[in-house]
Formats: sequence, C-alpha cells, structure tokens
Amino acid sequence: MREASSKKAPVTLRINGHAVTVPAGTSVAAALAMTGRFISRADLSGRPRGPMCGMGVCFECRATIDGVAETLTCLVPCRDDLEVVTDG
Ligand code: FES
Repeated sequence: MREASSKKAPVTLRINGHAVTVPAGTSVAAALAMTGRFISRADLSGRPRGPMCGMGVCFECRATIDGVAETLTCLVPCRDDLEVVTDG
C-alpha cells in the first residue's frame, strides 16, 4: 500500500530581501499573504493592487520574480532561493 501523502521539506525564498520559509507547493501569492503582504504591485496612478482571482485571470498579482517583471505570483510555486520583489 502506498503512502497517502508525502511530506516535503519547507522551502525558503526571499521577499523584498527578507527570508521567508513556507511549505513546499505554496504559491508565491500565498507566501506573500502568509507574511502579511497583500500588495504585490501598484497601478499607473500608484494605487496598491494584490491578488484577486488566485488562478491567473485577473493579472493583479504581478511582481518581479527572479528578475522577471510582471510575473503572476499566483501561478508560481515557491522554491528555495526564489527572489521576489513587490511594489508594496
Ligand atoms: S491572482 Fe489573479 S492572476 Fe494572479
């Protein structure tokens, strides 16, 4: 009989220069929320924006991930050494 679930080691990424450890499989958007950061970017007028749909539709969760601007944080799983930079 197979194990129903396999435990994965937590992963540590950096959000705006701060090390954050989350369970493996956590999306970057969820990691932001777990740290109390709900703002991922600002719109052209400077108003704060954050994840709305959580499934890649609204584009409100964009941030810079590993140097790639405008990346949808809700679709990227956290992994060790990931570098996330937000506007908020
Ligand atoms: S939360 Fe809507 S695209 Fe990421």
